[in-house]
Amino acid sequence: MPHIVVQGGTSLHGTVRVSGAKNAALPMMAAAILTDQPLRLSDVPDLLDVQTMNQLLSSLGVASSFFQNRLTLQMIDEGPCLADYELVRRMRASVCVLGPLLTKRRQATVSLPGGCNIGHRPIDLHLRGLAAMGAEIEVRSGYVFAQARQGLRGATVSMAGPQGTSVTGTFNIMAAATLARGTTVIEYAALEPEIVAVGEMLNAMGARIHGLGTSRITIEGVEALSGGQFTVIPDRIEAGTLLVAAAATKSAIQLANVEPSHLTAVLDLLGEMGATMTSLGDATQTLRFDGTNVSYPVSFDALPYPDIPTDLQAQLMSLLCCLPGESRIRDLVFPDRLMHVSELCRLGADIRLDGNAAIIQGTGSLSGANVMASDLRASAALVIAGLIARGETTIHRIYHLDRGYEQLENKLNTLGAQIERMDVARETILRRPA
Ligand code: EPZ
Repeated sequence: MPHIVVQGGTSLHGTVRVSGAKNAALPMMAAAILTDQPLRLSDVPDLLDVQTMNQLLSSLGVASSFFQNRLTLQMIDEGPCLADYELVRRMRASVCVLGPLLTKRRQATVSLPGGCNIGHRPIDLHLRGLAAMGAEIEVRSGYVFAQARQGLRGATVSMAGPQGTSVTGTFNIMAAATLARGTTVIEYAALEPEIVAVGEMLNAMGARIHGLGTSRITIEGVEALSGGQFTVIPDRIEAGTLLVAAAATKSAIQLANVEPSHLTAVLDLLGEMGATMTSLGDATQTLRFDGTNVSYPVSFDALPYPDIPTDLQAQLMSLLCCLPGESRIRDLVFPDRLMHVSELCRLGADIRLDGNAAIIQGTGSLSGANVMASDLRASAALVIAGLIARGETTIHRIYHLDRGYEQLENKLNTLGAQIERMDVARETILRRPA
């Protein structure tokens, strides 16, 4: 099985460019269902999830051509309306085709996304919102059967869930409302930059969306949307991951293609730990980061944007494992997103769980071992831990990493890390820890 081997004890230096945002690209791709014209996207990250979304769109009559991070999507057949389990089970974001299919083709059969290693992931907010807009919805045999014979109508929809708002739920309702009759109001809408970006793209395609970036989004339905050419915004989670890697290795690096305003809470937290950063304000959107004095442990809760994102919780935990002192982390978006704790403990971390909080006693040192990736961001956390552990760390099930990071190990190696991807079928001789 493919795995990667990380040599510990390296420091990082130099400059690397951050890729386009996975969580903006995926809904932008789903929006191709809303128009009969070509949709051209640039700076699309080359990821397993993007490949899966392309396969799903192809099964739904949308042709795609993807080359050197440029993607062209073109509707060629409005017949198919089935998002099959075999594709949806690989990527929860497949649910983003539900709203576009329902409003454009007036029917959709979409497999329920099912669970994943970061916790229970219902779509009740999506379904309740679409039902309020007039959809007839039935859930059976693991599928959502939805139809809107007369088309969808505007409604007031709440995205308030037990753990706050829903990002893809906001997208589904916003996309569905663009072609609905009348006006839709989404209350408790997601504020994430990815939602703002896809909403701005929809407006450039002819939609009438107001209030993007606020918790109340209003959408006036229109007859049709055009295509267009758009660039995917920088991936704030990849940028945050690379900054945490620099902080953990007490390194100074530069990142290009970073939007600092999308990372304010994270930059403030890293500043509390002792890091300094400067945005050069240049055309390449370069951020200069110095983590050489990072030494103060901090506690935080992962919350919806603009607070510390749940998608950086695991990576920050790796960093806190090596800062002497106690810190406490709660993930209030995905309370069960703690699968990485046991793997970090295999590397010598001192973490105990107290209810939904992880209490970390920073030990100042970790030691390399074999570990198992459990989800996308946990695998990045293990890479970071491997960079600071003594000796070699071998990370298995590395396909998790490839779902959401475009060549992360190559980016880190460009900065001076020593990470090797092993594609050997099976490694029969266990590497002795140093
Ligand atoms: C998006 O997932 C992101 N994925 C996730 O990133 C991210 O962790 C998450 O938002 C939170 O920021 C994409 O954008 C493709 P939610 P999403 O619906 O939309 C509950 C990554 O690593 N909820 O905002 O699926 C849910 O259980 C991925 O890149 C309901 O109760 O997440 C969770 O506790 C992982 N009912 C909370 O809301 C619903 O109908 C937030 O979920 C929907 C969600």
